[in-house]
Amino acid sequence: MTSQKPWDGRFGQATDRRVEAFTSSIDIDRRLYAHDIAGSQAHCRMLAECGIITADEAKQLCAGLETVRLEIESGRFVFDDRLEDIHMHIENRLRQIVGKVALKLHTARSRNDQVALDVRLFLRDAVGGLIGELHALRTCFVDLAGKNLDIAMPGYTHLQRAQPVLLAHHLLAYYEMFTRDSRRLDDGLKRINVMPLGAAALAGTTYPVDCRYTAELLGFPAVCANSIDAVSDRDFVLEFLSAASICMVHLSRLAEELVLWSSSEFGFVTLPDAFATGSSIMPQKKNPDVPELVRGKSGSVFGHLMAMLTTMKGLPLAYDRDMQEDKKPLFETLDTLSGCIGIFAAMLPKLAFKADAMRNAASSGFLNATDMADYLVGRGMPFREAHACVGRVVSYALERGREINELSLEELRAFFADIDKDIFTALSLTAVIDRRKSFGGTARGNVKAALAAARKVLDAEKP
Ligand code: ARG
Repeated sequence: MTSQKPWDGRFGQATDRRVEAFTSSIDIDRRLYAHDIAGSQAHCRMLAECGIITADEAKQLCAGLETVRLEIESGRFVFDDRLEDIHMHIENRLRQIVGKVALKLHTARSRNDQVALDVRLFLRDAVGGLIGELHALRTCFVDLAGKNLDIAMPGYTHLQRAQPVLLAHHLLAYYEMFTRDSRRLDDGLKRINVMPLGAAALAGTTYPVDCRYTAELLGFPAVCANSIDAVSDRDFVLEFLSAASICMVHLSRLAEELVLWSSSEFGFVTLPDAFATGSSIMPQKKNPDVPELVRGKSGSVFGHLMAMLTTMKGLPLAYDRDMQEDKKPLFETLDTLSGCIGIFAAMLPKLAFKADAMRNAASSGFLNATDMADYLVGRGMPFREAHACVGRVVSYALERGREINELSLEELRAFFADIDKDIFTALSLTAVIDRRKSFGGTARGNVKAALAAARKVLDAEKP
């Protein structure tokens, strides 16, 4: 292995071993190898097309790059931190395979625009994969909602029982969240999908390159409009990290609910044994480690976003070596997010909801108090007055350990004379739920329609 550097011409001393080890990024950026090779092959074809190298040279280079790819994929390729990064590894090995013609690969290019291209190519694929994984996760919620359409549960605000909702409605709230995440990632693709080659180090190149042709070969709809921006810009990484962070917020909230709901205190759901763990000392324990770890891993993803924002914030234009630090947060975020989506998509279909416990919880705690106020409004009372009146009813019932619908008609009439026995049907769990027909509300008919709409969207977006 040579430790010759492309910049040896100017330097009087060999690089200190400690500097080689310190500046090397090969352990991390080797993951870009396939995209680096694809980018180089497109670059070669463009160089030939523009008469900067010959067609035969381009052919040799592309074939040699293919050999390098196979070596890396078979595990035969030798990595060495003296060669710094994946770009230099591939170019160095290409030199050994195809000989001197390899020295032409880097014509009209710098590692600055090269690495920008590689990360864009990589991220484009990664985001495509994540959108597919999110599709599977969104499908889980729609399937679960369809399977559990008749389960009522308490809806909460401040984690206090508020108003009853259908479990399916609650589950479809997650469908909405992950649909937004998918759209957010997809939207970011517009900014990822811009081709930076041609910027070279920062100022553009003197060679008569055809950037649009390279873009076309690599499936980019656009070319970076400013060479300085092309090598300085990591906004697309920041955008991805923030979209990933928001998605982790959603996963973490879901995780938190699963932890709560599977506790004896709630008892709303049983986690599948295959997705739980036990205790090494307490024989009775069944712990929700999977959701706990998803919740916990959100911390590192948010940290990566902060790290990258901080790395970028003080950098003068154009490229700075600091930017090499973008890959670790990017890769780790991608792996964490993908792992969390995958494990939840595997676990969710196996959740067993406890309909009785949910219904019982929804039936106590005055979750129909708003509906009694609405009933009084129907009888001509202004809402604020009705609110105060029902407040007194609740206080009266609380003292007696009863629910509103467990009071007698006479007791209710003592608060407001114009109440009839139809109030009891009006206050029943199903009536309370089904009265919420406003768009996006929890009435069974609405939820069924939302379910059908979601299925249609998922069908149309099938990866
Ligand atoms: N390994 C470098 C990175 O990831 C590649 C670009 C190096 N450019 C340079 N001028 N040293 O950013």
